Amino acid sequence: MSAVRAIVLAAGKGTRMKSGRPKVLHDICGRAMLWYVLTALREAGIDDVVVVTNPELDARITSDGITTVVQAEQLGTGHAVKVALDALAPMPDAHVLIASGDMPLVPSALFRSVLDTLGQTRAALALVTAKMPLPSNFGRVLRRGDAVERIVELRDATPEQAAVDEMNAGIYAFDESHLREAIGHLRSDNAQGEYYLTDTVEYLVSRGNRVTPLIADHRLVLGINDRVELAQARKVLNERLCEQHMRAGVTIIDPDTTYLEPELVIGLDTVIHPNTSIGRHSKIGADCVVGPNVRLSNATLGDTVTIRESVVVDSLVGSGVSIGPFAHLRGNAVLADDVHIGNFVEVKKSKLASGVKAGHLTYLGDAIVGEDTNVGAGTITCNYDGEKKNVTIIGRGAFIGSNSSLVAPVTIGDRALTGAGAVVTKDVPAGERVAGNPARPLPKKPSAKGS
Ligand code: UD1
Ligand code: CA
Repeated sequence: MSAVRAIVLAAGKGTRMKSGRPKVLHDICGRAMLWYVLTALREAGIDDVVVVTNPELDARITSDGITTVVQAEQLGTGHAVKVALDALAPMPDAHVLIASGDMPLVPSALFRSVLDTLGQTRAALALVTAKMPLPSNFGRVLRRGDAVERIVELRDATPEQAAVDEMNAGIYAFDESHLREAIGHLRSDNAQGEYYLTDTVEYLVSRGNRVTPLIADHRLVLGINDRVELAQARKVLNERLCEQHMRAGVTIIDPDTTYLEPELVIGLDTVIHPNTSIGRHSKIGADCVVGPNVRLSNATLGDTVTIRESVVVDSLVGSGVSIGPFAHLRGNAVLADDVHIGNFVEVKKSKLASGVKAGHLTYLGDAIVGEDTNVGAGTITCNYDGEKKNVTIIGRGAFIGSNSSLVAPVTIGDRALTGAGAVVTKDVPAGERVAGNPARPLPKKPSAKGS
């Protein structure tokens, strides 16, 4: 078996994106376009990968542990490969896979197949082609009989050549010594004044070498050149992600309006309702009901959680919790099992023990709430004094009356009670009942007469 290395072309300016950001770093389903290509290469078992970048892109990705070579001036795909080869120690017997950073839909199996084709046919080059509906901007594959003769770019094509519907997908497996030789002979006398990698085909064929085509489904090899194609690719990727989870035991009511990202964990028999987006490495347990209209971002949910019309960001939710409609958890909200968070409740950087209920119109920020405490409608933790955030601590089994304002820092003891509208500015001992503004202890209930 020959050694395999890969070169990913990503130095092009991507001008048709009309963007301040390098094309291959545009997001599709929660990952950069380039991430998909690198992941598929890794899944194909190729570890030796170099990305050809421009200086801007390079500055943004080298910190991610990606091996790059900078192509300072973009003189064409052939030049990009030359720059990469110049940076790599020659391995004459190696097979070199060449792919583009702007083709995120290519599955690892296709990378594998084109390498296998090269190995099995002992060709100098195996290249992926695809039958495509016209018109298309892809380079045309010109054949004589079954043999591939050359590739002509659309801009250099005669009308007859432009009518050919077999396209160069832009995925190549080369024998390294043939590649090095052919790259050394490229010229730039074409419509774009560029060094075309595709001209290596004609060169190799003219030297009596075999170039083997591998025909693939054109939907797998769509390159992304503008934001319209970006949206189309997103749709395809999202369909794949939904399908993968449905096959693994998740019910997705409407894949068209369920927005997923790669590497999510979703448990068995969880049901996802429409208009739901789940991203940033969220994890969902089994038997949950998520949606409709939910956004989860870096959220972890236990089992049997119900959440609807709500947003959970950077937070941790235990099992049996119910959330929403119209709740917002963020900034490291941590909910233990069986908590209930209802309508118009915001929870930020707070820890709620099991069985806590906050059913309506409440803000809990920088709070710690003990087991089974009931937080009445309209309760606000006044956590900000104009300078800093302060902590509210509420014990177990407490009863916070409707419209209580808890002016932090403040501690309310176990089983304490605040009356409706209480403005609590001082700590309340365990079991005490307070009311008013500012809240004061209520008189103890008179003991029964004659006792
Ligand atoms: C290229 C092929 C075309 C094929 C198509 C498939 C050539 C000449 N043409 O055309 O036959 O049908 O891909 O998608 O190869 N790049 C560099 N440095 C450069 C120029 C480009 O790294 O100097 C990178 C780009 O970032 C991109 C890839 O190479 O990732 C392809 O370049 P692009 O300009 O998009 O080529 P196409 O016109 O699509
Ligand atoms: Ca392209």
